[in-house]
Amino acid sequence: MRSRTNEKVTMSHVLHRSTKQKFDVAVSGDGLMLTLADGRTVIDAAGGAAVACLGHGNRRVAEAVALQAEKLAYVHTMFFSTEPAEELAELLVGHAPGGLTRAFFVTSGSEAMESALKLAYQYHVERGAPQRTRFIARRQSYHGNTFGALAASGHPGRRSVYEPILMSNFSHVAPCFAFRYKPERETSADYVARLAAELEAEFQRLGPENVAAFVAEPIVGATSGCVAAEPGYFRSLREVCDRHGALLILDEIMSGMGRSGTQHVWEQEGVTPDLQAVAKGLGAGYIPLGALLVSQKVVDALDAGTGSFVHGHTFQAHAVACAGAIEVQKIIAEEKLINNVQSLGRYLGDALTDRFGQHANVADIRGRGFFQALEFVQSRDTNEPYAPKTGFSEILKRKALEVGLAIYPNGGTIDGKRGDHVIIAPPYNATRADIDTIVARLGSAVDAAARSI
Ligand SMILES: Cc1ncc(COP(=O)(O)O)c(C=O)c1O
Repeated sequence: MRSRTNEKVTMSHVLHRSTKQKFDVAVSGDGLMLTLADGRTVIDAAGGAAVACLGHGNRRVAEAVALQAEKLAYVHTMFFSTEPAEELAELLVGHAPGGLTRAFFVTSGSEAMESALKLAYQYHVERGAPQRTRFIARRQSYHGNTFGALAASGHPGRRSVYEPILMSNFSHVAPCFAFRYKPERETSADYVARLAAELEAEFQRLGPENVAAFVAEPIVGATSGCVAAEPGYFRSLREVCDRHGALLILDEIMSGMGRSGTQHVWEQEGVTPDLQAVAKGLGAGYIPLGALLVSQKVVDALDAGTGSFVHGHTFQAHAVACAGAIEVQKIIAEEKLINNVQSLGRYLGDALTDRFGQHANVADIRGRGFFQALEFVQSRDTNEPYAPKTGFSEILKRKALEVGLAIYPNGGTIDGKRGDHVIIAPPYNATRADIDTIVARLGSAVDAAARSI
């Protein structure tokens, strides 16, 4: 029997993420607030997984979705395009940002990455280089859970069960994670040069003529907690790719679409990608939607060759999903919400520093815009993380829920096994007062979690 009104689902036929845990049922949302079936309210300070960038219950988006469902929900892309798909693509790449001129719409971040990997390979096939089967990604990365995207991901925990059956044409180099991997005596420029040399060495090991693409998150999200690259890192790595004719695939699924203070993170890095994956903030969680943004360079290769992307899904470019995302993007533009992310992002950073800057168990406060994280340690003197068996992230999640706060904590920050962090990712329309409340509740939760160990 299952009870919707009780505090937790007592017996459920949903295969949840854990068969051992009972999950609270969320029944409604309004702005930052979620209401659970037992009447409790929780502040959603991470938009789930950095998704709900307009908060919950937005009437305009709900109406746009409903209107499109009534007008025309679905046609197959083998036969027809739709007005919402055309309009959304125009909105995203009509002005050719960074040379990106086409959008391929899918239903998740993983599908967007899967599409990126396939299109990167097809690009080389079209140009007469089918031997370019190798992809280089980074350790401590997450690109999705489908087979290709997981093979690209460099996170031991997420790969673990499937390691024996993952594709073997992916290899991984070090991430740009200065807090953990740049010794103090090394300058930032030397660190970047060391990482560029490592990528170059990996190209040489594989044979540069065999590499299809280099794949990276411009700001690492869930696996390490809002780790931005050192200045010049992406420019140096782009140069290595260009030297060897490999494509640059940027995964902005979590960090992009305004979350980090600009529409695209690469605008802050001085590079442009050949292929870019976006998802979460694109539809703000009102509809499941991801997109692969494609540069004209790749379109040209396809166009000069077979002219058809050998890939597709039944639900690609779904009209209702595209209509929802158009409304989301219009609201972000009309209300100048990316400006809010920039200015209040600084406020959030300052508020986190005020509250946690001297905290005995917080080693680092990092991120950009409304994409910020705390990294936790047993002791600030040694920066030694909690032992993985402590499960600090899980404890913090529970303690936060007890004070009415939903956040996005994760373990394995440093190397996939050790380390803990939490991501704070409020909606783009959050106010100073919202941020004050979030930081205050987070403070109580972190103190309670640290005390309990
Ligand atoms: C950077 C990044 N890439 C890919 C994905 C996979 O997206 P999805 O869960 O929508 O398949 C995620 C999801 O968290 C992500 O953060």
